[in-house]
Amino acid sequence: MKRHVDGRADLRGISLADQDEAQLGGPVSVLVRQKREHVKLDRLLDELQQASGADQDRVLIRIYRLVFPHAFAEESVLWPVIRRVLPDGEALTRQVEEEHQEVNELVTRLDGEHLDPSERRRVLDRLVEVLREDVRDEEDALLPSLQQRLSTRRLQELGIAWELVRRTAPTRAHPVVARRPPGNALAALPLTVLDNLRDLCEVTAHRSPRAAPALETVSHTLAQAAGRVERLRGMRRGERSQTRIENR
Ligand SMILES: [Fe+2]
Ligand SMILES: [Fe+2]
Repeated sequence: MKRHVDGRADLRGISLADQDEAQLGGPVSVLVRQKREHVKLDRLLDELQQASGADQDRVLIRIYRLVFPHAFAEESVLWPVIRRVLPDGEALTRQVEEEHQEVNELVTRLDGEHLDPSERRRVLDRLVEVLREDVRDEEDALLPSLQQRLSTRRLQELGIAWELVRRTAPTRAHPVVARRPPGNALAALPLTVLDNLRDLCEVTAHRSPRAAPALETVSHTLAQAAGRVERLRGMRRGERSQTRIENR
């Protein structure tokens, strides 16, 4: 069996799904952190498909809180490394960026448009499908290729960086902002502040229903502010045409 640069067995082409924690570089490694969250997402998507009404909305919110910071940290920390170290990194990362972009657009439709029940069902089914495709592309192709190029130590350092960004990343859909640095890095701070305030409004409205209408207005104003931030000059820098939204 071929050996890796730091003595690990050659695991080229082996999906993260088929490797244990030690093979993936231990608990700190970015590969273990990714897999852990993908498993969590898989369970939530199963739950979503069983749920209806208010339960469905609650599961959706849990999915957003997991998926958006996760993807934002991928786009700003991981994919730039993949583009540097893999010869086909550009094509591989563009594919997952397009999936992330579609997720942002689907969620924007779910949250912002009045969809009739059959259209809502179609959007939800597509959302589940794209999220599952995204996980498979990452676990079966992108991340095993990265694993081949980096030492365990580097995978652990990336794990720490990815986690740090994930914890401070925006928590909502932002389809207009660039999926690549430097635009997404510039947008991160203001969008995170606005998203966190909206999350706070939502939690408080659940706890005190009497305050809910006022808080909904505040949340709506914050959403408009986030929309304006996304359109500021510089926030689309680095974007590729495949993930760009014009005039929105
Ligand atoms: Fe991921
Ligand atoms: Fe992803």
